[in-house]
Amino acid sequence: MSPAQPSSLFDHAVEVLKENDRGTYTVPTKGLYPFQWNWDSCFTALGQAYFDEDRAWTEMETLFEHQWPDGMVPHIVFHVNDDGYFPGPDVWNTGRPTPTSGITQPPIAGFALRKLFERSTHRALADRRALALLPKIDKWFEWFYAARDPQGEGLVALLHPWEAGRDNSIDWDEAFERVPTEGIAPYSRRDTQHADPAHRPTKAQYDRYLWLVEHFRSLGWDNSKLHDASPFQLVDAGFNAVLIRGCKDLAAVAEALGDTETAARNRARAAKGAAALERLWSAEHGQYLCLDRRTGQLVASASIGGLIPVFAAIPAERAAAIARTIMRQAERLRYVVASQDPADSRFDAKRYWRGPVWLVCNYLIVDGLLAAGERETAELIIRSSLELIEQSGFAEYYDPVTGEPCGGGRFTWTAAMVLEFLAIKARN
Ligand code: DGY
Repeated sequence: MSPAQPSSLFDHAVEVLKENDRGTYTVPTKGLYPFQWNWDSCFTALGQAYFDEDRAWTEMETLFEHQWPDGMVPHIVFHVNDDGYFPGPDVWNTGRPTPTSGITQPPIAGFALRKLFERSTHRALADRRALALLPKIDKWFEWFYAARDPQGEGLVALLHPWEAGRDNSIDWDEAFERVPTEGIAPYSRRDTQHADPAHRPTKAQYDRYLWLVEHFRSLGWDNSKLHDASPFQLVDAGFNAVLIRGCKDLAAVAEALGDTETAARNRARAAKGAAALERLWSAEHGQYLCLDRRTGQLVASASIGGLIPVFAAIPAERAAAIARTIMRQAERLRYVVASQDPADSRFDAKRYWRGPVWLVCNYLIVDGLLAAGERETAELIIRSSLELIEQSGFAEYYDPVTGEPCGGGRFTWTAAMVLEFLAIKARN
């Protein structure tokens, strides 16, 4: 693959990616996240492909080596012991040969597979590696619709906020009132020893994260039971959009490799998902919203989860409305895209997913906006993203008002996204 324009920014990003490389997987950052995370790894592979294609394929292959027999791909693989992180493998207790968590994460793998495959300059190598990953990703997608969409609605539910990756989003606040905390084992958090507690989820939220983990553990991590037994069943528009896009991308790779059955199956999944996603549109908010499957109600919270669907090739008028929503946000903020609408009284510029800017989300939104011809907004987001790096380095996330770096530092996926933004800039 041809590298993006060499620049010191490019070199710095590569340095961060290499620093966090543990040989066959990459940690999101030293200290705070010392294992392999699912969606982090797929974003990471996109970055690695600019300087070491073989290593990029390995990143994804390592993740899929730990796929569960039922098809689920866990959100954390605990390759090593490290009690600097909580909750560790003993809390999850999933009984896997290499310990893993028991929940999943946004399926960036379908999209990443297609990117690696199409950008490759080593045809035989890419064909071979893609051919091996294809059935595994297909099996994961099949698992999603079987285990998380038991009524066949075309949309999958998340059973834990950590599955969304947007751990403490305002989207979950109402549903979290239904999650009890009685009876959870005493615990001591480690995240607040590595990052400023004011940037992290609260104790009340951690109690509920832990209650859900203990509840699912008590059901033996049996995915045929977890969906119906969970008091938390949230249909996140962004997550579903990533899955829909993943199905389309997987279909394209399958087609190119001559696997027409896998291609047809995934095109059908994507078409059903895209039609169902329309239920989540809110004209009032100018974006999609989450659906609480337990109450059947849309959640009145304008978060970035409702802007990410532009990544799934939604109708042109929806993409235009999302672009306008982001432009409105930009009138109040120095940097976009905030993880929560700044006009929302619950917006918190520094607290994780309740306001800060995340480069991975910016990247998904830019990809969708460019495909929809919404250049002006896409360019604004690219500019914002690169200015944040220049000002504050490769942080986990950023305060959209001041640009201050938040959470962990020297962050892998942020570095990977810088390589992507440099490449997009060089192309346009
Ligand atoms: C954490 O520990 O903060 C993670 O987001 C859970 O995956």
